[in-house]
Formats: sequence, structure tokens, C-alpha cells
Amino acid sequence: MAYQKKHCWSILLRLYHWAFALSIIALCITGFYIHEPWTNTLREGSASWPMAWMRFAHFIAGYVFTAAVIARIFLYIFGNKQERIMDHLPVTPRNIKNIFSTLLLYSYIKEGHDPDRLGHNLLAGMTYVITIIAAVFQLISGFYLLFPELAIWEGYGLAIFGSQQWARYIHHLLMWWFMIFALIHIYLVVWNDVQEPEGLVSSIFTGKKFTH
Ligand code: HEM
Ligand code: HEM
Repeated sequence: MAYQKKHCWSILLRLYHWAFALSIIALCITGFYIHEPWTNTLREGSASWPMAWMRFAHFIAGYVFTAAVIARIFLYIFGNKQERIMDHLPVTPRNIKNIFSTLLLYSYIKEGHDPDRLGHNLLAGMTYVITIIAAVFQLISGFYLLFPELAIWEGYGLAIFGSQQWARYIHHLLMWWFMIFALIHIYLVVWNDVQEPEGLVSSIFTGKKFTH
């Protein structure tokens, strides 16, 4: 069977994906440490500065995460056809149809992806949009925790989360969304790659997919 190589993801989307994924790994590790330090904090400020270093790493990764989210929002508007928000939401008959065909595929009732679809399937696309919305709340709560004295973050922080303690609690809960998402996401992209020879996993490195 002949295969055609098609350009699917721009370089900015791929850079955003890996900046987002790697920063989240760093943020979860350092976030757990900030929540419950596993080293002996009595050392803090004497022999070494473990909490200060962890917080520093958290904030650097936080800026990478924020840049990635901004890049993604830019691509929702100005990206290629597969990257735009309209390709992710159930707003066209073609997209709505894809929800059902993906459900049948995931239930092992039907075989094969929709041949006319190069980008994400709708279930994946909608989950990614929810993840980016969660990421916006995560970064606003993070900057509110980081700069409570700045009028802009204090304003948004108080309006959205209320007290600092609430912001911290929601910041912590949202972390679980990203961790559970990452587990299911990696499982599903590998599963899809096994089912259909379009080269899904390599597409997030090369930007190319294969179609019949
Ligand atoms: C997926 C992204 C992120 C995850 C998983 C994450 C996770 C965490 C966790 C678990 C904590 C500890 C809260 C607790 O006590 O339970 C924390 C604290 C914090 N995070 Fe994040 N975070 C993320 C993004 C960000 C961003 C974008 C910023 C902004 C720079 C940020 C700034 C902070 C600050 C300022 C604290 C409080 C530090 C302290 O109390 O000393 N976080 N984060
Ligand atoms: C071994 C690790 C990973 C691999 C191989 C991988 C692979 C992929 C692939 C192939 C896609 C496109 C899937 C599709 O068309 O539906 C994708 C999209 C995506 N991945 Fe990953 N991923 C990995 C880790 C992560 C992690 C840790 C996160 C964040 C927690 C993440 C977040 C996302 C998001 C948000 C998208 C949607 C991209 C967009 O906004 O259009 N990925 N990933």
C-alpha cells in the first residue's frame, strides 16, 4: 500500500509540546517538594539551601510553562488547519461525527481512523483544550502565589481564587489533572500508533504523518 507523507505540526507546536511536557515534569517534582520537603529542612540556610533551590527551579520551569501556554494560544488562532481551535471543538458536523467514530474505535467496535482527518481526533482535541484552560488557571494561581504584592496578580488572584491559601490548594489539585492526563495521554498515543500506521508518536518530533 502506498503511503503519502503529510506535514501536520509546525515547529512552534512541537517546541511548545516538549517545553510544556518537560516543564510539567519539573514542576510536579519541585511542587511535591515545596508541598512536603523530603530532605531534612533543618539544613536549610546552614549547609545548603534545598527549599530555595527547589523553589527557584519551580519558578524557572513555571516561566517555561507560561511561554509554552502563550505559544499554544497563539497557535489556536494563527496555527495551521490542524492546530487551530476550530479543529478541536465539536462545532462542525465533521467534528461531531468524529466524536462517535473515535468512541467506536476506542471501544474496539470499528477499525481505522477517519481518513480525512490529519489532526487530533475530537476526544483528544477537546481534552487538550481543557488542559490548556487548566494551565491558564495553574499559571494565574502560580503568579498570584509568587507575586501577591503586585496589583495585577493580587487583582486576578483575589477575584478568581480568593485567599492565597485557596489559590495554593487549587494549584495543588490542578497538579493532579496534569499528572493523570500525562499517564493516560502517553498510553493513548502509543495505543493509536499501534492501531494505525500513521506514525503518530514520531509526528510530535518530525511534524509529519503518513496517510494511505
Ligand atoms: C503544571 C504546572 C505546575 C504544577 C504541577 C505546580 C505544582 C505546585 C505544587 C504542588 C506546589 C505546592 C503547593 C502545596 O503546598 O501543595 C506549588 C507551589 C507553588 N507554585 Fe507551582 N506548579 C505549577 C506551575 C506553576 C507556575 C506556572 C508558577 C508561576 C511561576 C508556579 C508558582 C508556584 C509558587 C509561587 C508556589 C508556592 C511556593 C511556596 O509556597 O513557597 N507554579 N506548585
Ligand atoms: C513520552 C512522552 C510523550 C509523547 C510520546 C507524546 C506524544 C504526543 C503526540 C504524538 C501528540 C499528538 C497526538 C494527537 O494527535 O492527538 C501529543 C499531543 C499533546 N501532548 Fe504529548 N506526548 C508525551 C508527553 C506529554 C506530556 C508529559 C504532556 C503534558 C502533561 C503532554 C501534553 C500534550 C498536549 C497538551 C498535546 C496536544 C498538543 C496540542 O495542543 O495540539 N504530552 N503528544
